Amino acid sequence: MEVIIQPSPVAAAKVAARIIEDLIRRKPSAVLGLATGGTPLGLYQELIRLHREKGLDFSGITTFNLDEYVGISPEHPASYHRFMQENLFDHVNILPGNIHIPDGNTKDVPRFCAGYEEQILKAGGIDLQVLGIGHDGHVGFNESTSSLVSRTRIKTLTEQTIAANQRFFSEGETVPHHVITMGVGTIMEARTCLMLAFGEGKGQAVADMAEGPVTAMCPATALQMHRQTILIVDTPAASRLKRTAYYNHVYLNKPDFQKVSAFPVV
Ligand code: GLP
Repeated sequence: MEVIIQPSPVAAAKVAARIIEDLIRRKPSAVLGLATGGTPLGLYQELIRLHREKGLDFSGITTFNLDEYVGISPEHPASYHRFMQENLFDHVNILPGNIHIPDGNTKDVPRFCAGYEEQILKAGGIDLQVLGIGHDGHVGFNESTSSLVSRTRIKTLTEQTIAANQRFFSEGETVPHHVITMGVGTIMEARTCLMLAFGEGKGQAVADMAEGPVTAMCPATALQMHRQTILIVDTPAASRLKRTAYYNHVYLNKPDFQKVSAFPVV
């Protein structure tokens, strides 16, 4: 796992956006896996800027989102459909037919989930998966104890995740208890995983993920077994890492060919 420590979330978002820009310019038909939450907002703003100011072209891009709540409409202000429209898709030239987000209103959840996996395969697999991390180390909505080889499926949220996501819902409104999420195994098949984490509150999860033992109690630790994971954090989120001096040394002394992005385009 490559660990990149940046002075601020803005600086981190710029590094992440450059990696995605490089992928899109080299592979205009790239397949991106996308995440929601507060963490990727700066990245999406930077991608929008690159589209507007540098002509970054999303017309050939296909996207698959990690997850969605079960039982709320795509128009609901807290739905991940709405989040993606407002924070990225409305502002770039992606084709609506190339956007995939789990359908939280499907009548047949297992069938939908199997179909989502098939769509990812049919698109050629995910080139780069954007990820955030929960305070307990969950990725997507793969809560602690999720199978590390799980596929897209329904999950029940923990009290902690429900409380953390209450801020996106109106006061008094209940956060859905069920979600559809890509599995850890699905995420692990992305060619590159790009995880962002900011703030001291994420420090322990970041340290567990990068340096702790691999365990289903912290599903993000599965990424230690992934061939190409890039973890970009700000200084507070890096505060519990033990090998920061080494990570900084690696980043500052990269061979030229690795400076923008380290992954091959398939
Ligand atoms: C939710 C999302 C995750 C996200 C996590 C952290 O659980 N399903 O994809 O990484 O929240 O959210 P935030 O970035 O707001 O801290």
